[in-house]
Amino acid sequence: MSKANDRILVLDDDAGVVSYLVEVLSAAGFTCIGESDPKRALQRAQQPDVALVVSDVEMPELRGPALLAALHAERPEVPVVLMTAFGSVDLAVSCMRAGAADFVTKPFKAEALVHAIQRVLRERALVKEVKRLKSAATAAVSARGLVAKSDAMKRVLDLAERAAKAETPVLLTGESGTGKSAVAQFIHRASGRSGSFVELNCASLPSNLVESELFGVRKGAFTDAREDRPGLFVEAEAGTLFLDEIGELPLESQPKLLAAVETRKIRAVGSSKQTTVDARLIAATNRSLEDALRNHQFRPDLYYRLNVIRIEIPPLRERREDIVPLLDAYLPQVSKRAGRDVWEIEQDAMSWLQSQYWAGNVRELLNLVERAVTLSTGGALKVESFERPSTSPTGGDPLAAAVSERWPLERLELAYVRRMLAEVGGNKAEAARVLGIDRRTLYAKLAEVPEKD
Ligand SMILES: Nc1ncnc2c1ncn2[C@@H]1O[C@H](COP(=O)(O)OP(=O)(O)OP(=O)(O)O)[C@@H](O)[C@H]1O
Ligand SMILES: [Mg+2]
Repeated sequence: MSKANDRILVLDDDAGVVSYLVEVLSAAGFTCIGESDPKRALQRAQQPDVALVVSDVEMPELRGPALLAALHAERPEVPVVLMTAFGSVDLAVSCMRAGAADFVTKPFKAEALVHAIQRVLRERALVKEVKRLKSAATAAVSARGLVAKSDAMKRVLDLAERAAKAETPVLLTGESGTGKSAVAQFIHRASGRSGSFVELNCASLPSNLVESELFGVRKGAFTDAREDRPGLFVEAEAGTLFLDEIGELPLESQPKLLAAVETRKIRAVGSSKQTTVDARLIAATNRSLEDALRNHQFRPDLYYRLNVIRIEIPPLRERREDIVPLLDAYLPQVSKRAGRDVWEIEQDAMSWLQSQYWAGNVRELLNLVERAVTLSTGGALKVESFERPSTSPTGGDPLAAAVSERWPLERLELAYVRRMLAEVGGNKAEAARVLGIDRRTLYAKLAEVPEKD
């Protein structure tokens, strides 16, 4: 019955008692850790593998209520079974009030302790299961896996579902992290199209490569083109072609995309032959295409062609009802991935999460939860679990590290760019705006950033 995160910590100031209990409980199938020093035991209990503590109630350095308080301050979810001396009823009662899960009175038979432990663990498992079921029931996850509790998000999915059946292009707009890519995939799944979902981020490619990427290359078209290469339109045959950050599509490529959408025919770079394609087009942007139109960075004819079915995804702060169901939906999988047994977020923390601005929208919310879960020992997440990383790692002058380590200017620049991106919750448009550079430049800089410092 013992799993790695199912250990029982046995604490008694008498080392003889500890080894006897460890022997008895091990024989009953539990994995035990024995401790006779309360301080060390409390430290050991911080580890997420400790599932239950069995402790003597009266030790020279520590009495039951203080032990419970110290343990529960860090890991309120860990049940404690106390062993009380015959006659110390008052102490037993105050320990139960302080949150002990159960107690056995000395002298006790080994089975009595084993039964108490089994009962407490069973109860805990039940409480957890009920919470899990309750959150699953209220998760408001749509049949196709997206959370939509708010009316605004329900309307988005409704529209997406209806749009899925059509052939017309769909334009998804909304701030970074609101779920444009997620909705694009939702539309693809709902469309029943048999081909693949193929994605291109228009801002991630240098402008001279956009066309060969989209339409393919004929062997010999340029020196590097040693063989025919199909483009994304061909890869997305009978499927969906998702063009992310469409506002960044170079102006000179725009007429070619328009022609492809209108005629359903493409011509590979360097080829004279046209081929017919059947790829459903979905475009997304987190900048205003209307602004791009006014600034002559986007062609009106392409704009009108793409803007037939437009789905606007509102920022998370305008649909806060989605926050709790999003957390309910993601907490179990985030915990599992991080190898942590977190199944709950305390009410205070929930309120705090619901009151934030969320410049980076759903992505920022999920990143913050992932970080909190990873840093936690298990149990419930508290407000403190969500504190954001301090803005200055050196505590003082942020340039100090750069100066003392003699950084080249480029490294400092990259560090600043990445930091700003984190500061605005991963919102690239916002980061570019603050940094005073355009998004293509931001991407170019980020592409040079190595994985680690
Ligand atoms: N309604 C939702 N239900 C469940 N998960 C969601 C929902 N909306 C967004 N997400 C998740 O949030 C994260 C960010 O969403 P997504 O990448 O789709 O945002 P985006 O609008 O495409 O951002 P960007 O503009 O930066 O490309 C993803 O992990 C996505 O799965
Ligand atoms: Mg996206």
